[in-house]
Amino acid sequence: MKQVVFVCLGNICRSPMAEFVMKDLAKGYDIRVESRATSNWEHGNPIHPGTQRIFKRHAIAFDRQKRSQQISLKDLEVFDLIIGMDDENVVDLQRLSQGKYDDKIVIFRKDGVPDPWFTGDFEETYDLIKTGCEKWLAQLLS
Ligand code: 4NP
Repeated sequence: MKQVVFVCLGNICRSPMAEFVMKDLAKGYDIRVESRATSNWEHGNPIHPGTQRIFKRHAIAFDRQKRSQQISLKDLEVFDLIIGMDDENVVDLQRLSQGKYDDKIVIFRKDGVPDPWFTGDFEETYDLIKTGCEKWLAQLLS
């Protein structure tokens, strides 16, 4: 089983969006998909209403009980692929990794995924996440 974790700053907008889009695409494959935050700012909080609206609009199943959780060193050890949603997430992950798990840490896409917490544009973020997840899934299956 391959284990993948998407990581953003708050774990309420982008990384849970990637988690449930990927779970939808990867249905039937032996892949574990999770998401985490680099910060503890939103710890325990539910998925942002804007991201929940995206799931409903695009008929993507999601867990209403999902709560923001900060990534741990143990997570870096357990997951095979650790995908930061932007450059800052990758830098924060590398800081936590201290060189130990750097080979597993990658960026979701070269230019990063814009944060709808700031842009307000959840559809733009969804389009990039959908395209990106299709590519990551193809890579995981190859
Ligand atoms: P996310 O968006 O990293 O995509 O979940 C954010 C959520 C919360 C905050 C910033 C970004 N915040 O400042 O609390």
